[in-house]
Amino acid sequence: MADFPGDFLWGSAASAHQVEGGNTNSDWWDFEHDPSSPAVESSGDGIDHFHRYAEDFALLSSLGHNAHRLSVEWSRIEPAPGEFSRAALDHYRRVLTVLRDEGLTAFVTLHHFTLPRWFAAAGGWLAPDAADVFARYGKRVAAELGDLMPYVCTVNEPQMIALHGYLEGYHPPGIANAVLWRRAGDALLDAHFAGVRAVREETGSPVGLAVQLPLLAPARDDEACRTLYDLMRYEIVDRYLDGLTGPDAGDWLGVQYYRKQWVDPASPTWFGRPPAGVPTTQMGWAVHPDGLRQMLHRAARTGLPLYVTENGIATADDAERVDYLRTHLAALAQARVQGVDVRGYLHWSAFDNFEWSEGYRPRFGLIAVDRNDFTRTPKPSAHAFGRVARTGRLDA
Ligand code: NOJ
Repeated sequence: MADFPGDFLWGSAASAHQVEGGNTNSDWWDFEHDPSSPAVESSGDGIDHFHRYAEDFALLSSLGHNAHRLSVEWSRIEPAPGEFSRAALDHYRRVLTVLRDEGLTAFVTLHHFTLPRWFAAAGGWLAPDAADVFARYGKRVAAELGDLMPYVCTVNEPQMIALHGYLEGYHPPGIANAVLWRRAGDALLDAHFAGVRAVREETGSPVGLAVQLPLLAPARDDEACRTLYDLMRYEIVDRYLDGLTGPDAGDWLGVQYYRKQWVDPASPTWFGRPPAGVPTTQMGWAVHPDGLRQMLHRAARTGLPLYVTENGIATADDAERVDYLRTHLAALAQARVQGVDVRGYLHWSAFDNFEWSEGYRPRFGLIAVDRNDFTRTPKPSAHAFGRVARTGRLDA
């Protein structure tokens, strides 16, 4: 018997800036080129997906995928406030048409970390009209491309944008301020609600939000740890999930799960290193498959249908990826057996790509990319995943 139904969506996820190349009009491009920022290198040419999308989608389809998550690049589509690029919109129409013709159901994210330079300069998410400006962009994209967007995602990981950009200073705008961290989080939730309304004015496609849900735990059993743990769990998980109520919450929720994290007030980042003996990845992240099952249960309390819109591992040893896939897909199947309504799984990522401040060193891909000539080579994990996707069976 199959472990997953025939209509389950299987595929991978990516974002424009991490694969396209040449996204020079964004806050991220500036951050990468600022010698004082933590970013280790330029995104440069990406993996030249901007020009190679057709061969890339054909490859994914040949590997057994039936869905794909990507983002459209705001800084290309709206290069100046209220000025929309015909050429960029036409480009994404061609991209989404090829995707559909390859039999891949599209999940299209409107905002995946990168902002147009002008939006960032005007205050980014802290500007009073940020949500409205985002909604204007979302409405235009939905009007132009709605027929090719079966699923629309407003914002990717609002909590991580707020945490990395406004508390840790590790992503643009490079701020480290707990008050602004909270304000940015509020603004991003508002942007989601405004985005849902705007998209619905133009298309009937189901629209949702993608949240990263790490499994959090206190590093020690003492009061300081427990207090900070309660705070972080609220700020990263509960505030967002419990905030998804009312008509503008959306039609579905994307769950992105990678790891377990230990909250530790003794660490400058408030997160401690994984305890000795716990397996970790190239990112230093702790591998903990049952966390996926647990966080799916937590997300299910929103009442929204769920999709795993990201899950994956950075490793130079592809055998570790095969194992990560096997154990996490088993946790996903278990959550479904336990009654959680999960309808798809999109692995992060199809291709080795630009991992933000970490650059190209972390290898998240099912498919390797030669950094000199952009040749794509599927790894054994791509074939292992394809067998599960084609059959719906974990033992395939
Ligand atoms: C979350 C983000 O959405 C994605 O852009 C990133 O590359 C992966 N997780 C891995 O860190």
